[in-house]
Amino acid sequence: MQNKILKFILWNLIFLVIYKISVAHENHHHGKEERKDAKNQGLILGKVNNSYLNNIKTIFERKCINCHGGQTGYPWYYKFPFAKGLIDSDVAEAKKHLDFSKGFPFKGHGTPKEDLEAISKVVSEGTMPPFRYWVLHWDHRINEAERKAILKWTSESLNEFSKEQKK
Ligand code: HEC
Repeated sequence: MQNKILKFILWNLIFLVIYKISVAHENHHHGKEERKDAKNQGLILGKVNNSYLNNIKTIFERKCINCHGGQTGYPWYYKFPFAKGLIDSDVAEAKKHLDFSKGFPFKGHGTPKEDLEAISKVVSEGTMPPFRYWVLHWDHRINEAERKAILKWTSESLNEFSKEQKK
């Protein structure tokens, strides 16, 4: 009888120990995975930002940043009240959407991936800079070379993100 009880306690102890070890192992493993994910995410963001700084930033500074962040270089017609109102609301609205004044990832919008998708969309559809803007500044339209460079950057960057997701 005593033997049976002893056996019962012993088996339970063994079970408990095995259970604890497996849980601990899982947690450990999980923590490691998460750290690895965060590290990879950081590496991708760094890579995308490098390519942004090297190839895209000057384009955005010339063609986008008047509305999307930083100091606004106001045009001469800013002094007309109707224009001032339009420009102010444009700048406020554009900044709310995306702020290009710092490096990538940008402030003010969605995830880095969503930002890349939104940029790729407006650039391929030709909706940014907005018509009402470039109609007054012909030189602020993006040209074909710039369009290609931006789309190359967004598609290569989005590729990095999806490669990581497939792993
Ligand atoms: C005259 C000001 C102005 C300029 C210049 C401008 N934008 Fe915008 N942008 C806006 C405004 C206003 C919005 C928000 C409302 C809208 O979508 O029209 C916006 C929104 C966006 C969005 C977000 C769209 C979404 O889905 O939320 C993207 C992406 C964008 N702009 C990219 C650019 C890029 C890239 C350039 C330069 C090539 C640029 N913009 C130049 C005013 C501007």
